[in-house]
Amino acid sequence: MRIPVLSVKGGIGKSTISVLLAKELALRGEKVIILDRDQLGFISSLVGIESKGMIASVVDGESCECHTHIKMGKGQVHIIKFYGDGPRLESDLNIIKSDEKLTRELTESYTLMLKSIEHSYMILDNPALSLPNEIGNMLETTSYLSLYPGTRSLRVMVSDITTHHFENTLKYIEALNLGSREIPLANVVGQFLVINMAPPGWNYRVELPNLVTEVKRGKFLGAYILPFSDDLFQFSGQIDDMPRIKQVEILANHVLKDITTKDVIE
Ligand SMILES: Nc1ncnc2c1ncn2[C@@H]1O[C@H](COP(=O)(O)OP(=O)(O)OP(=O)(O)O)[C@@H](O)[C@H]1O
Ligand SMILES: [Mg+2]
Repeated sequence: MRIPVLSVKGGIGKSTISVLLAKELALRGEKVIILDRDQLGFISSLVGIESKGMIASVVDGESCECHTHIKMGKGQVHIIKFYGDGPRLESDLNIIKSDEKLTRELTESYTLMLKSIEHSYMILDNPALSLPNEIGNMLETTSYLSLYPGTRSLRVMVSDITTHHFENTLKYIEALNLGSREIPLANVVGQFLVINMAPPGWNYRVELPNLVTEVKRGKFLGAYILPFSDDLFQFSGQIDDMPRIKQVEILANHVLKDITTKDVIE
């Protein structure tokens, strides 16, 4: 299963939630890949990947040391640095797009790496407003799906507590649905919602009534309200030491149960 973590704006907790979820799945015995598509390679730097990401390595004609793994409980978390080299991303993607040889090389390197990593889940940590039909996403997704056709995709949408952000998240889902239609074999089964950094005492029933309506309508397979955590804020330690968050534990159980239940807010 692929789990893209997505949001309308930056700095809302996608990378943090990607790690927390990967960790919970690994602690339940799963082998998980995190595909790091953060512009700054936040997770890759936490786990000590110093080389360029795969995109920049292909453009520069270098081999890439952009993978590492960490054992957690009975499981494993593999990290692949795919993006992560800062402002050069857009020009790198344009170079790859206009050069068939580089496109082929990227596809080959990525496919080779995937073949070497046994896994049951891939969590994709994205930049803000990432769209499925962007060239980097398109190449990644089509390579993955040619290797593992039929893989399902379950989105994790991250929003803050404001109505404005939540409403834009709903619009973003429509754009994602449109983009996914352009990808052969894309098999998106739905989305979870995470409202991140809720302050103490924040009550979604009062402050964000639309959330209840949308969950009841079946827009989300589940919604999770993550509290603001002093221990998570600007976390810069080892990912093993990242604190566990109850709602992400529940989300991980939900993912593992092959979720079909609707109307859940935790
Ligand atoms: N629940 C939380 N409580 C407190 N701090 C948090 C929480 N979630 C995330 N943070 C903090 O918020 C900041 C932004 O988080 P993160 O880097 O995960 O966001 P992002 O959406 O991946 O950002 P970008 O779009 O720039 O990649 C970090 O300093 C992180 O430690
Ligand atoms: Mg990030």
